[in-house]
Amino acid sequence: MIRKPIILLTGGAGYIGSHTYVALTEAQFQPLILDDFSNSNPVVLDRLERITGQAVPCHRGSVLNTELVAELLKVHAIEAVVHFAGFKAVGESVAQPLKYFDNNLGGMISLLKAMENAACHTLVFSSSATVYGDPATVPITEDFPRSHTNPYGHTKLVCEDMIAAVCQANAAWRAGVLRYFNPVGAHPSGLIGEDPNGPPNNLMPYVSQVAVGKRPFLHVFGNDYPTPDGTGVRDYIHVQDLAQAHVAALQALLLGDNGFTVNIGTGQGYSVLDVVSAFEQASGKPVPYQLAPRRPGDVARCYADPALARHLLSWSANHTLLSMCEDTWRWQSNNPEGYRLLE
Ligand code: WQD
Repeated sequence: MIRKPIILLTGGAGYIGSHTYVALTEAQFQPLILDDFSNSNPVVLDRLERITGQAVPCHRGSVLNTELVAELLKVHAIEAVVHFAGFKAVGESVAQPLKYFDNNLGGMISLLKAMENAACHTLVFSSSATVYGDPATVPITEDFPRSHTNPYGHTKLVCEDMIAAVCQANAAWRAGVLRYFNPVGAHPSGLIGEDPNGPPNNLMPYVSQVAVGKRPFLHVFGNDYPTPDGTGVRDYIHVQDLAQAHVAALQALLLGDNGFTVNIGTGQGYSVLDVVSAFEQASGKPVPYQLAPRRPGDVARCYADPALARHLLSWSANHTLLSMCEDTWRWQSNNPEGYRLLE
C-alpha cells in the first residue's frame, strides 16, 4: 500500500481550502486541515465528509501557534504545506491594518519557523493578483511590477518576499506562489461554497445573494471606466480550476521542481454587467442593480496572462463564466443562509 503524501492545509476549512481539500483527496493525497475557525465554519467538515466519503482529519488551532504547527508537521510527517490561512477583506484591512499585519504576516512568519524547525521545506502559498496594484496594461504577466494599494495587498506582497528570502537562504526550500485572480463558483455538489460573513465585499457572492432574494439589488460601482461597457473587468476563475492548480503545484514541487511564482487566472476578462447577465441566465432569477460611484482603490481592468502556469504546471482553467454562475447558484439556492442556520 503506497502511503499517500500528507499535506497540511492551513485555513483548510475556508472557501479555497475546502475545495482544494476535495481535489487533493481525489488526487491521492491525504490532506490534514489546521483551522481556528475564526473565518470559517466547522460545518464544512461534515460537508467534506459527505463529498469525499471519508473522515476529515482536522486540527482546531491557529497557524500563529508555532509550537503546535511544528508538532503537527513532525507527528504526521507532513510532506508539504498549503498556506491559505489569512484575512482577505480589502476594506477591513484599510480600517484595521494592524489586525492584518499581525495575522497575515505573523502567521506567515510562524509557519515558516515551524516548517524550518520540522525540516518540512515544501510550501504552496495563496497569493493574489492584488500584488500587481493598478497594472499599466493587461493581460498581466508575472514579471509585472508589484505594488500595494491596501494593507491586505501589502501583506501578500511581503509574504511573497519572506518566502523568497527563506528560499534564498536555504536551498532545501521549494515554494510555489500562486497569484489568484478572482476566485468564484462552488463544488458541483452544492455542498460547499463561498460563505462570507456579513454583506459580501466581492461581486459574485453579492450577485448570488440578490438572486436568492437576500439582498434587494446590486450596487454597480462605476460605469465610467475605460472598458467595453464602462464597468470593471476582472479575471473570474472557477474555484474548481483553482483547486486543481494547487494539485498541479504540489505535484511539481514534490517531483523536485525548485519553485515558481505563477498567475492563476483564465486570461479572459469579464465586466460586472457580463457577470450579472450570466448569473441571470444561470439562475433564471433577475439580478436588479443600481449604478453607484466608483469604489476607492478599484482598477478598471485586471486579468491574467496564464501562459507560465500552463508551461510550468501543465495547468489551465477550463470552466466557463456560465458554469461559475451555475455552480454558485446551486450552492446559494441550497444554502440560502450559507453554513450558518442549516446545521
Ligand atoms: C470585482 C468587480 C468591483 C462588488 C478583490 C481583492 C482580491 C481578491 C478578490 C481576496 C469590481 C465590482 C464588486 C459590488 C460591484 N480578494 N463590484 N459591486 O476587487 O477585483 O478583488 O477580491 O483574495 O485580492 O482585491 O473583486 O469581487 O470585490 O470586485 O460593482 O457589490 O465588481 O467594482 O469591478 P476585486 P470584487
